[in-house]
Amino acid sequence: MIVEASAPGKVILFGEHSVVYKGSAIVLAINKRARVFAEKRNDDRIFMDSEDLGYSGFFIGDEYHPVKGAPWRGRSLTAVNLVSRKTMEKLGVQSGLNLKLRSEIPSAVGLGSSAAICVATAAAIDGLFEGKLSREEICALAYEGEKVIHGRPSGVDNNVSTFGGVLKYEGGVGFEKIILDESPCFVIGNTKQKRSTGRMVQIVSELRQRNQSIVDEIIETLGSISETGLSYLLKHDYKHLGELMDICHGLLTSLGVSTPMLDKLVHASRESGAMGAKLTGAGGGGCMIALVDEERMAAVEEAIRIAGGSPMRVDVSYEGVKTRRVD
Ligand code: MEV
Repeated sequence: MIVEASAPGKVILFGEHSVVYKGSAIVLAINKRARVFAEKRNDDRIFMDSEDLGYSGFFIGDEYHPVKGAPWRGRSLTAVNLVSRKTMEKLGVQSGLNLKLRSEIPSAVGLGSSAAICVATAAAIDGLFEGKLSREEICALAYEGEKVIHGRPSGVDNNVSTFGGVLKYEGGVGFEKIILDESPCFVIGNTKQKRSTGRMVQIVSELRQRNQSIVDEIIETLGSISETGLSYLLKHDYKHLGELMDICHGLLTSLGVSTPMLDKLVHASRESGAMGAKLTGAGGGGCMIALVDEERMAAVEEAIRIAGGSPMRVDVSYEGVKTRRVD
């Protein structure tokens, strides 16, 4: 039996970094998904085929054995190994596994690809053993993997990937599902510069150690922008929503998480008609997001391309994690 589970990536509209300090964030699941196909093995190996990324190998316990690609590649698969073992532990089963990992979400650019893989891993294994884990339990198992990858993540990524849709997430508290009766159009601009979320969180934390009250005010403002931004989103007031995205980009830049390339894509989008644009996710490379009228969409995409980025239209996906038997 093979079970496939898939889970969506995400974009943060408001509140990145602030949510690490218990502020609010508005986050959207997107129509790009990661997929994990799980099958039992007769030995105790957890074999991972992540050939899209150019490497594959297996774990015996915590030890990685490469089959394709350098041994250090195993580091990025450690989280999947941990989630697999913890999921089986939770289900009270023990088995070797073949896991095929596939993703439409570009990795390490702030779109939640690692969380989506961790969520899909827990769900696929749950499905394989005909377990009955709740979405909350799957989300918690994925968070264990997220901690391995990012250090001290807020949990926003694994939550939105599990539950889908639009969430107002408060670090340390949980989330509220937001229902939009109209979805605005967004274009993502990928700088194609990979970066580590954990490292970017550390940069903000170090800046805060040197300038605590100033950084605290910026973080607090970023959180309150999420609240105001949500009210504009619900009222379809995209002019003001865009303005807040611009302010947000400025504040994130002041925290040291923008880059010249992110700034270039943000300005190129605004100059070609976006109503607002900001970096999204941890920054330091990765992606920006622009709020765009349907008529300006092609112009903004072209401007991002000319500025050296890779544009991608995204829609909100209301479908969280889902599982199906393949054979
Ligand atoms: C998450 O994608 C981006 C950050 O807010 C970190 C986190 O929430 O863990 C920067």
